[in-house]
Amino acid sequence: MKIAIASDHAGFELKQNILEYFVNDKTIEFIDYGISENKPADYPDYGFKAAQAVANQDCDRGILICGSGLGMSMVGNRVKGVRAALCHTEKLAELSRRHNNANVLVLAGRFIAKYLAYDIIKVWLKTEFEGGRHQRRVGKIEKFDNK
Ligand code: RB5
Repeated sequence: MKIAIASDHAGFELKQNILEYFVNDKTIEFIDYGISENKPADYPDYGFKAAQAVANQDCDRGILICGSGLGMSMVGNRVKGVRAALCHTEKLAELSRRHNNANVLVLAGRFIAKYLAYDIIKVWLKTEFEGGRHQRRVGKIEKFDNK
């Protein structure tokens, strides 16, 4: 699985920790859409690039990180075909996959410790979409997108 990842300055440290985790894990490919150094940055400049990589299918899934997770959620969900989910717990990560088929995970860099982030990511990557009635609901989002 190939992951598009991006953060602003408030998510930078957590992003770098996650990249280290991916490198050690060896099963996860990633493209880092920035930022590349810890300097003030505007989250839309980086979030849109990573979200578009998911929408274009250059990457299978995405992870966006800002301070609260709110700005990156807004960015991700503006991109057609992206279903971005801000998750603070493993349970929310699981539900975002099972029920919403989230293809972008959003994390709040200023609120989530790195080990919790790793656990959230693990659950989020392995959980499958349930389909069925949830497909009907997600389909209605896609229909709205295509209007
Ligand atoms: C940056 O200070 C902060 O506003 C940003 O990371 C994010 O939390 C916005 O939603």
